[in-house]
Amino acid sequence: MSYSQEIRGQEDRDLSAVFARAAEPVNLLKAQRQENTLYGFLRPLDHAEDLPAIECLAATIRYGRNDVVVLGTGGSSLGAHALVALKKNRFSHNNQYPRIHFPDNLGPDSMDALLSELDLAHTHFLIISKSGGTAETLAQMMACLAAVKEMLERVQNGRQLSEYFTVIVEPGDNILRRFANRWRLPIFDHAKDIGGRYSALSVVGLLPSAIAGLDIRETRRGARDVLMNCLETENIEDIPAAIGAATIYHCAEEGMNINVLMPYECRLDMLARWHQQLWSESVGKAGKGTTPVRALGPVDQHSQLQLYLDGPNDKFFTFITTNMNGKGPVIDDKLASDPELGYMSGRTIGDLVAAEARATMEALSRHNKPVRQIKLERLNEYSMGALIMHFMLETIIGAHLFDVNAFDQPAVEEGKVLTRQYMEWGRRMH
Ligand code: PA5
Repeated sequence: MSYSQEIRGQEDRDLSAVFARAAEPVNLLKAQRQENTLYGFLRPLDHAEDLPAIECLAATIRYGRNDVVVLGTGGSSLGAHALVALKKNRFSHNNQYPRIHFPDNLGPDSMDALLSELDLAHTHFLIISKSGGTAETLAQMMACLAAVKEMLERVQNGRQLSEYFTVIVEPGDNILRRFANRWRLPIFDHAKDIGGRYSALSVVGLLPSAIAGLDIRETRRGARDVLMNCLETENIEDIPAAIGAATIYHCAEEGMNINVLMPYECRLDMLARWHQQLWSESVGKAGKGTTPVRALGPVDQHSQLQLYLDGPNDKFFTFITTNMNGKGPVIDDKLASDPELGYMSGRTIGDLVAAEARATMEALSRHNKPVRQIKLERLNEYSMGALIMHFMLETIIGAHLFDVNAFDQPAVEEGKVLTRQYMEWGRRMH
């Protein structure tokens, strides 16, 4: 496996009763595997038949494109964004072609800016919505379609509207599919039995990844290895996702119902955002659950660490670290020749980040806070797939422990219905 997990501060706790319950969903998965009825989001991991079509479509979309815009929100954007972030660094998000944009947080100014700054003739729009009815995605799509239509009428380059859009939506009758058919836009099916927030390893996350030039076979392989480890390990107390879920549940029972996820790596910032949605929507219901909070190291040491160390004892901490030692520019103190800088001399930026992560975890442990470290050997497509699978398994096991349904989101749906009502009222008032 490409990662290891170590939990400190819980050594003397007896979790056997929690582990006994954690074994139930894992046994269910094992039985599903025997019967060939694995949950939709796990099924594609048993084979790779869908990958050639995704790779082929990605190659077509990449060709001659400067920009690709992913229109989707929540589960229809976060997984892809987390994966594509592997190609980015914090300061130059757009250093490779095609540049991939995720305007997932709808805003009038950002939408205006996106449409005016893009060279629409060399842009492709990927429209992703499982239900095909999410207002933000439909509104963005209509704005983009109008802009591309206007551009085509102006430049007369002989291209068709359909060459600028690809739609991913579930089969059956829905608004987006009707719209795509009306404008003859190519459609790729979003499997009906894969929920939005569990779709990162399906076409939803892998098509944008392949367009970004990532090796999606490696992503799948990393995820598959974690899934197989879970399905083939006999002792529940040896399965990392079960250990994670059991510890989170136990901590919550002791009043630590905030879960901080703090990677010490810029490219994992989006993964923490993806995880926040996955856990919140899957486990937070019926008055139960824990609150996922995301932080980023080392920058948030200068923002939240005071609270974490010295505030209420209501948190379980997860750190994700990569091997940073020896990486990045070497710090040379000759320019300053200040003895106070001597401790950094000859070390690298990576050494400093690694020391900071270690110091933060150690300080929390000294304050008797429960700390988990997930250590990646390398950050790449394989380990991203592994992390995504780890957290998805941890989430479904966690939901079982909290006795909630991991796959519905009634409160989110309620918000969508109300938004529609307010828009209709607003229209009547005009
Ligand atoms: O995980 C979920 O179910 C949600 O977050 C959805 O992904 C989000 O609301 C977007 O829905 P849709 O993909 O139907 O547009």
